[in-house]
Amino acid sequence: MNTDTADESWLARLPKAELHLHIEGTLEPELMFELAQRNGVKLPFADVEAVRAAYQFDDLQSFLDLYYQGMNVLRTSADFHDLALAYFRRAHADGVVHIDVMFDPQGHLKRGITLQTLMDGLLQAMADAQAESGLSTALILSFLRDLPAEDAMAVLEAAAPWYNRIAAVGLDSAERGHPPGKFAAVYARAKSLGLARTAHAGEEGPPAYISEALDALDVCRIDHGVRCIEDTAVVARLRDAQIPLTVCPLSNVALRVVDKLANHQLPAMLAAGLNVTLNSDDPAYFGGGMLANFNACATAFGWNRETFRMLATNSVQAAFMPEGRRSALISDIARH
Ligand code: HPA
Ligand code: ZN
Repeated sequence: MNTDTADESWLARLPKAELHLHIEGTLEPELMFELAQRNGVKLPFADVEAVRAAYQFDDLQSFLDLYYQGMNVLRTSADFHDLALAYFRRAHADGVVHIDVMFDPQGHLKRGITLQTLMDGLLQAMADAQAESGLSTALILSFLRDLPAEDAMAVLEAAAPWYNRIAAVGLDSAERGHPPGKFAAVYARAKSLGLARTAHAGEEGPPAYISEALDALDVCRIDHGVRCIEDTAVVARLRDAQIPLTVCPLSNVALRVVDKLANHQLPAMLAAGLNVTLNSDDPAYFGGGMLANFNACATAFGWNRETFRMLATNSVQAAFMPEGRRSALISDIARH
């Protein structure tokens, strides 16, 4: 077995699945300007450099303010298509073979964009990427937790025409003060519809939110979850049940969940036997995509190939994908 230190080209070719990716967070400043021009939207930035310069965050909320503002340029199905396909191509170049794609309908509905517009664009981009490169994708319809649970329920009901195209529901946006239990009824309804469930928990919120997401929402994965490490009982539970955690290292640094990558919870999480995956979250805002995250971890932690194979295998094991594809990809990773 090869235990060499992982290098950049080996990591680029390692087949990997991305499980924590907000499609609205893939909006690069260049495309933001192009879409603003296409749609006659006035931006509060002079140029692409000014947008990049604004990407200095103090916390989750300071990012979310820009993230929701950036979405404003997305108006037509073609816009959503172009956004998604551009990211799918970049991810493919990073060695990503599958993406569970989160999207935030409420960020668009409140601007008068219909679900039909949004879904038409995303589904076309997914079909195009599959045809172009074989990249597989699945959709996670995510609710904004800082809005009332009734709004989330209304979105879930409005998505009925697409239930067979949606793999799961998710929960994102401002975490503190919006515990998972607020959405228990919405998640019970999603479960009754046969949809899988994930939720952000333990990013800025306390470890108790992780337990609450498991108990009240019956989720199969936890997005982020890094603050579990502050509570030994939560760590033990996550380890015993091998709940996949979709960790986003560069995001955690950008949003100051940790002060620097060298101090990240990841090494302790691996030492505790947790089921960890690596992801980019909002790559346009946080300094890079999947390969940038893998490379940063290789540099910060000196992990060997065996560790990265394990992380990639974890991602494929936990992805929303057909079983035949899953077993083929797991073999590919073992041979890499
Ligand atoms: N956390 C919470 N909500 C989000 C994020 C995140 O990292 N990205 C987009 N919405
Ligand atoms: Zn996220």
